[in-house]
Amino acid sequence: MSYALSFDELAITAAEREAVARLREATGVEGPIERHCLRCRHIAAELARRRGWIIEGEVVTVAAALHDIGAYLDPAARQSTDAYVADGAAVARSLLAAHSWTPARIDRCADAIERHHELRRQLARGAEVEALRLADLVDISGGLLRFGLPRQWVRELRQDVPVDGWGAEVARIGFRMVRERPATVPRIFRRG
Ligand SMILES: [Fe+2]
Repeated sequence: MSYALSFDELAITAAEREAVARLREATGVEGPIERHCLRCRHIAAELARRRGWIIEGEVVTVAAALHDIGAYLDPAARQSTDAYVADGAAVARSLLAAHSWTPARIDRCADAIERHHELRRQLARGAEVEALRLADLVDISGGLLRFGLPRQWVRELRQDVPVDGWGAEVARIGFRMVRERPATVPRIFRRG
């Protein structure tokens, strides 16, 4: 195994550390969602490596850490009435604005968050965007969808970065989203 077992080992740059701090503020330290984000980070990197896609590790780490944070924003603090993936992208944009990233990198990172539930391929928006979209599908399907990754690799990752508590947490978030903003649910899967 050659991947970090915690975001503490992985998040090196100031932007990465701040993204992980935001994730932890919202979801607790190394809770089920943080572990899902970390698995998505590793799956995205492995999918990209096997396809020969060039990705920027920092972009993927920040996007993976923040990709579900929109589901945790306090309704009163939320910027918009939009889908949670758009709220998450807005969090990334405001965070990254202070880290002197180029506009193109910020767009790629925000797209990776906002588009991670798109039903269609997103490679044209950047390898990071498509890699995170596929990675989320691998993890939420429990490895039933693997996009060419070996079953054993996915199984080991899910042991090394444990999935405990994940199902209950997803059910809780989903229930809250349907209750608080039902009209946005279809927009999670298809952005303009
Ligand atoms: Fe996710």
